[in-house]
Amino acid sequence: MYILAIETSCDETSVSVLKDSAVLSNVVASSSNLFEETGGVVPEVASRKQLEYIIPVLQKALIQAKITIDQLDLIGVTVGPGLMGSLMVGVNFAKCLSAIYSIPLVPINHLIGHIYSGFITNYLGEDVKNDIKFPILSLLVSGGHTDLVLIKTHKDITYLGGTRDDASGEAFDKVARILGLSNYLGGPLISKKSLEFKKAKVKGLKLPRPLIGSNDFDFSFSGLKTAVLNSYKDYSVAEVSNEFEQSVVDVLLKKTQKAYEIYNPKTIIVSGGVSANSRLRNTFKKLFGNKVIFPLPLLCGDNAAMVGCAAYFYKEDATFNLDKINADPSLSLQNLT
Ligand code: KG4
Ligand code: ZN
Repeated sequence: MYILAIETSCDETSVSVLKDSAVLSNVVASSSNLFEETGGVVPEVASRKQLEYIIPVLQKALIQAKITIDQLDLIGVTVGPGLMGSLMVGVNFAKCLSAIYSIPLVPINHLIGHIYSGFITNYLGEDVKNDIKFPILSLLVSGGHTDLVLIKTHKDITYLGGTRDDASGEAFDKVARILGLSNYLGGPLISKKSLEFKKAKVKGLKLPRPLIGSNDFDFSFSGLKTAVLNSYKDYSVAEVSNEFEQSVVDVLLKKTQKAYEIYNPKTIIVSGGVSANSRLRNTFKKLFGNKVIFPLPLLCGDNAAMVGCAAYFYKEDATFNLDKINADPSLSLQNLT
């Protein structure tokens, strides 16, 4: 089945064409460079950019996939969570295409999309090795979310825990700002800086590992950011980056390990923007071996290919009842079933 997928939840405009779970094209236009100056997304600006990019991005995705609209069997669109103005552009665009070309539409939760980035079997002609078996333990680490869920079947999802304050990606971004590395998306820069760190002084920086031993699956990263703020002046940027990154990875690993021991999943999927982090990948692979699946690095950030893959596995939700499909900025992974 040929699927068209649309993702416009924040500051990326993306359209992808898939044949089942194989990605034929995945075009992403981003306005994130505009928000380095403002130190964060300006929702009004992001939604205007979505409007500007959506048609050329669709055209490019169809051309690259060598598919015409009348060949499509299904459309998948991100309905939330995200910024209302940005979401509305993609949702209404998808509804128009569905109505004009009589193609059924599947609403996709952006967070489910991130998880299904791990289910993609082929990317632009390259096979992707991912031997996924249920039950799955999913750790989602992005700019806005840090969630652990247990997936028994495609539609049976139990929420185990999540962040009580800042998300892991948000913590990376805020620490990058404190360290003067970046004003907006600093995760990759912290990661790069931490590689420069060689050896601690006699008394090296030691940051807390928030909630690492707590009797739940919750996370908290806001105090870690404050600890950085209170101590960073006495250490090199490389040392702070290294210790901060290690703290986040330690906490994410420990909580995932705890859930692994209790729920005994056959596969672990780690996805979302922060899952591009190489220390996180290496540490998880060392402990879980080939039981842990990471998306291709270029599919960790926001993209429509993951939304299309989720739409393939959620195809029974497809509908022509377009009144029922609306943008919902407050969707989460809680209370799904
Ligand atoms: O999934 P994503 O693209 O957008 C959301 O849905 O939030 O995640 C973006 C987040 C940002 O906070 C960014 O700094 C972080 O992912 N990120 C990283 C890395 N690459 C992106 N964090 C740590 N290490 C990285 N290599
Ligand atoms: Zn995302």
